[in-house]
Amino acid sequence: MNKILITGGAGFIGSAVIRQLIAETATSVVNVDKLTYAGNLQSLVSVADNPRYCFEHVDICDAAEVARLFREHQPDAVMHLAAESHVDRSISGPAAFIETNIIGTYTLLAAAREYWSGLPAERKTAFRFQHISTDEVYGSLGETGFFTEETPYQPNSPYSASKASSDHLVRAWHHTYGLPVLTTNCSNNYGPFHFPEKLIPLVILNAANGKPLPIYGKGDNIRDWLYVDDHARALRLVLEKGRTGETYNIGGWNEKTNLEVVHAICAILDELHPQGAPHASLITYVQDRPGHDRRYAIDANKIARELGWKPQETFTTGLRKTVEWYLANTDWVKAVVSGEYQKWISTHYGGKG
Ligand code: NAD
Ligand code: DAU
Repeated sequence: MNKILITGGAGFIGSAVIRQLIAETATSVVNVDKLTYAGNLQSLVSVADNPRYCFEHVDICDAAEVARLFREHQPDAVMHLAAESHVDRSISGPAAFIETNIIGTYTLLAAAREYWSGLPAERKTAFRFQHISTDEVYGSLGETGFFTEETPYQPNSPYSASKASSDHLVRAWHHTYGLPVLTTNCSNNYGPFHFPEKLIPLVILNAANGKPLPIYGKGDNIRDWLYVDDHARALRLVLEKGRTGETYNIGGWNEKTNLEVVHAICAILDELHPQGAPHASLITYVQDRPGHDRRYAIDANKIARELGWKPQETFTTGLRKTVEWYLANTDWVKAVVSGEYQKWISTHYGGKG
């Protein structure tokens, strides 16, 4: 691929994909991001001056701007990660999720189709629209079993319902118009540059600062954790080698209860940051999330079998790297916690941020 248009590239996973692409390939990247509270250009400082990287401050719901991006940049592929991504926020304020995740995906699909239809034959055949989605579209599992690509959709939260809608739109654009799409459904990611509203970064920062560690319900809900760079590698592989019209589940075979995750973080901190040990004494049980899905677990056999992908990190190695990263990158953390990161954006982008 010569040039990839990546939406949501200032977010947690998008920025990991961009850092990898710039470091490990010759591909050019156009990062298209609205810079909501979750967008942070300080996560991309290492690539900002690279001639193969460029940033476009655009809302994917803005049809005219999205059409301009395709016209001006002439990408060979789209990796669509832009979304509202936090389940708790979707419960208290679903409107933004409907707007970005559904209308935004529709707007992007319409512009991509228009652009793709006009490409010369060879570029048209090679073009790809990759949609990055979540395992939450499948709903919640009981004590046993796994989500496969054939599991029926049963989204339970406003977030997962909006992502399920976007998956269906992407599918329809392939089935009806022939747009060469690929969809991936991944489990919970963790790693560096993760916004500290999500469980793992929140617990690392709270524990390191002697604050309570909020556990929803009994802490026995199960998530299946994958290190973010492993997800980024899987996405790049699916984009290059995946079969169009197919979906690929991505997961690390790493089921943990939330309490297990929190105890593992506390144990690492007891060793690396002994002030305040034992950190587990900060665990505080709080009111459960409404509609809290019980268990997620991905069957990642298809992507392993067809494309040869497997994760490089175990939960033990990935979690230690993550805790070390948060302890070492105090400037990034301070700017996020204080809200400075958004001022940094306006300073560098002339008030556009
Ligand atoms: P994130 O919240 O960290 O980042 C989302 C990015 O999208 C931000 O940079 C934000 O500014 C941008 N954005 C939001 N609305 C926009 C709009 N209207 N126009 C342009 N940009 C907009 O999210 P993430 O955790 O990096 O997730 C990325 C994608 O991967 C999402 O589609 C999410 O559903 C999916 N996903 C996430 C996980 C996970 O564990 N984090 C797992 C599976 C799938
Ligand atoms: O499964 C993939 C999904 O994983 C992605 O699609 C979402 O974008 C991503 O946010 C994530 O969703 P979760 O809701 O699973 O992630 P979160 O970090 O918010 O919560 C993880 C688990 O921890 C969940 O069972 C709720 C619980 N939790 C969360 C927070 C923030 C707590 O117990 N306490 C907390 O403070």
